[in-house]
Amino acid sequence: MSKRSIRNLELAGRRVLIRVDFNVPLAGGAVGDDTRIRAALPTVRYALERGATVVLASHLGRPKGAPRPDLSLRPVARHLSELLGRPVHFAADCTGKPARAAVAEAHPGGVALLENLRFHAGEERNDAALAAELGSLADVYVNDAFGTAHRAHASTAGIVSHVGDAGAGLLLGAELEHLGALLGNPRRPFVAVLGGAKVSGKLDVIENLLGRVDALLIGGAMAYTFFERRGLPVGRSLVEPDLLDAAAGVERDARGAGVDLWLPADHVVTERVDAGAATATLQVDDATIGDRIGVDIGPHTRQSYAEVVGRAGTVVWNGPMGVFEIDAFAAGTLAVARAVAGTAATTVVGGGDSVAAVAKAGVRDRITHISTGGGASLEFLAGRTLPGVSALPDAQPYVG
Ligand code: 3PG
Repeated sequence: MSKRSIRNLELAGRRVLIRVDFNVPLAGGAVGDDTRIRAALPTVRYALERGATVVLASHLGRPKGAPRPDLSLRPVARHLSELLGRPVHFAADCTGKPARAAVAEAHPGGVALLENLRFHAGEERNDAALAAELGSLADVYVNDAFGTAHRAHASTAGIVSHVGDAGAGLLLGAELEHLGALLGNPRRPFVAVLGGAKVSGKLDVIENLLGRVDALLIGGAMAYTFFERRGLPVGRSLVEPDLLDAAAGVERDARGAGVDLWLPADHVVTERVDAGAATATLQVDDATIGDRIGVDIGPHTRQSYAEVVGRAGTVVWNGPMGVFEIDAFAAGTLAVARAVAGTAATTVVGGGDSVAAVAKAGVRDRITHISTGGGASLEFLAGRTLPGVSALPDAQPYVG
């Protein structure tokens, strides 16, 4: 069921608490990558243009319920102020007097940013008292933190019953629309490209997608659990011994669902996962791998994966094809990034590493939708309910 949107909320003259996901990397006391901050700007501007006072709340990192100066959102307030071209009143605590004072300074028509919500243990416990206190700072609540929508926390779930009205922000709405379309009625052929280190982290996603996709392309270290199961030589590549039966189950289910399951045909191997280490390209059944480690998909695999992606109507990509942080092992991941950017298909990329690869390949603006949620997008694609979404009121049905 669709959720009430910020577009359906009365905002003028009201204090609107917007839960954003400003969980961004900091470097030397400044914001390293501001993608998530920029992604929230349309909602912030929308509320300001309609005469709201905007109170922003976010977590940063995992401080485990106690203040940590290195995880303060103060640098984010400075950065946001530059992006918006207006003052951002920073509250040194998301509760109590500092929070009330910053909101009062911002009111009417300004912007306040509350300090890291996770400096209070009640945030992750979805504590009712903290939810009520956050709710008391606002008349209206908007959730725009897709990246945190898979967490049932005080600021994503509990708060909703402590405000007059609530809805989804523009970013959350766009994420649900694009990711929802993948699970709804995607243009075919629908191709999923999944990579990353572990099968265990993606098993639920794989199983949920098998009933929906036409082809599933697997890369990254997770391929080696499938190879081990098939009796192929894997050297010292990462294998999850507990997942061998699950890998067999995936192959069986793919056959049953008529899904083309692709595994790499060749790979790049090395003695050490190290920028200076010698590499070789081998077929995946080549026993001369010895005790080397697979670190990237090989050139034939890159080409065949690019061809499948090129013929697709819809593509979803999550997870790198190898250890792409090291340039010598990045060619497979960058080839997939370029293939996803070059296809005429509707394309959705999620997960920090794939998004970074798309940026590294210089093709960000050629992707239909880049998700701001890593864990959240995987939970969504696994078919799970996101607590931050289910807590929001349903859209009013239109009565004509
Ligand atoms: C993320 O970066 O995935 C979100 O901000 C959620 O962070 P968390 O995994 O610490 O809850």
